Amino acid sequence: MSGHDKPQALALQALLSRYSVGPRHLVEPGPSEDELSLMVQAALRAPDHGELLPWRFKIVRGAARQRMADLFAAAARAAGKDEAGAQLDAERALRPPVTVAVLARIDLGHPQVPAHEQWAAVGGALAQFLAAAHLLGYGGKMLSGAKVRDAQIAAAFSEPGETLLGWIALGTPTRRAQGPSRKGGVDAAMTIWG
Ligand SMILES: Cc1cc2nc3c(=O)[nH]c(=O)nc-3n(C[C@H](O)[C@H](O)[C@H](O)COP(=O)(O)O)c2cc1C
Repeated sequence: MSGHDKPQALALQALLSRYSVGPRHLVEPGPSEDELSLMVQAALRAPDHGELLPWRFKIVRGAARQRMADLFAAAARAAGKDEAGAQLDAERALRPPVTVAVLARIDLGHPQVPAHEQWAAVGGALAQFLAAAHLLGYGGKMLSGAKVRDAQIAAAFSEPGETLLGWIALGTPTRRAQGPSRKGGVDAAMTIWG
């Protein structure tokens, strides 16, 4: 077996093909509870200084999507959107088979782990979760927007001390996401120091 055929190399190739897939391109079936549990296990493997677990995921599926859609529509109206805009926001909640709210719990007074390290752990968990979804054959996209700061929405998803980062839309992708080398590629992201 050559180096490039090793299971690890194949897994890496699969990871390099991950792109975000938005709600418009996600259909049933969404991930099962066991598959969601695997995604969370992958998130738990992200680096986390002090093992503070500064994040939580909340799964929205089935009938709960309608409640989320109502909240999204109400937030849109409160933000001054017209009825068409409110329906568009409701649709964003209803369309993905599964939505996962991402919550951060940052301990601002922690003696060893500053807030930026805890936020890094949140990002790591999010990336691992999305990578696992991709490896299981699902598409997903992290979304936020002004509605994360809507008081009713924040209260519905988060406990005191938590920040609602946004939602991961998840489902079966209707198209294979791909793209050119973005963000300037490796040259923009890596330089040799010294
Ligand atoms: C915390 C967070 C919030 C985001 N919110 C939005 C959003 O509201 N709308 C959006 O189009 N992309 C948002 N993105 C970016 C997309 O999730 C995605 O990363 C981006 O479209 C690049 O696609 P890629 O994952 O294929 O590189 C957000 C990303 C993060 C990490």
